[in-house]
Amino acid sequence: MERSYIMVKPDGVERGLVGEIIKRFELKGYQLLAIQLFKPTREHLQEHYKDLKEKPFFPPLIEYMLSGPVVGMVWQGREMVKVGRRMLGETNPLNSNPGTIRGDFCIETGRNLCHGSDSVESAEREIALWFPSGVIQWERTKIQKLIYE
Ligand code: GTP
Ligand code: MG
Repeated sequence: MERSYIMVKPDGVERGLVGEIIKRFELKGYQLLAIQLFKPTREHLQEHYKDLKEKPFFPPLIEYMLSGPVVGMVWQGREMVKVGRRMLGETNPLNSNPGTIRGDFCIETGRNLCHGSDSVESAEREIALWFPSGVIQWERTKIQKLIYE
């Protein structure tokens, strides 16, 4: 089954949206594999967002991500990466549909509440970065038949 790294950013944690965000993935039928509250270092965040280091918004992005604790999670399920990002909404919350997390709860790109891996490869890289000792491997058994054909 596919995995994605989903993270509640500092604004989401501070605003008390962690439970709401977890709830949406749980209700969809996805499975939580790991969760931790982190206070990441600047270097760790620079590594996480290394593909963006030449962008003009990189410095404010790192400051935003350093502004408080984040909640890092690993979620598992069919097409987890693509559907996970669809559930988060567009990068710019003003372009996000209602019903998405960003569409429902925020306004600005620089305060867009949550992160989701953008490919299966980046998901595996990010999971290894945030959970270097690995995550529990398990598949729910009984409920699986209620969610998948
Ligand atoms: P993540 O899930 O956080 O990776 O967002 P994304 O994949 O939708 O967007 P991207 O990876 O391109 O950018 C990472 C983050 O940088 C975004 O979620 C925003 O918080 C921030 N960001 C991206 N573009 C801009 C921008 O034009 N201005 C500002 N201020 N922030 C931006
Ligand atoms: Mg991204």
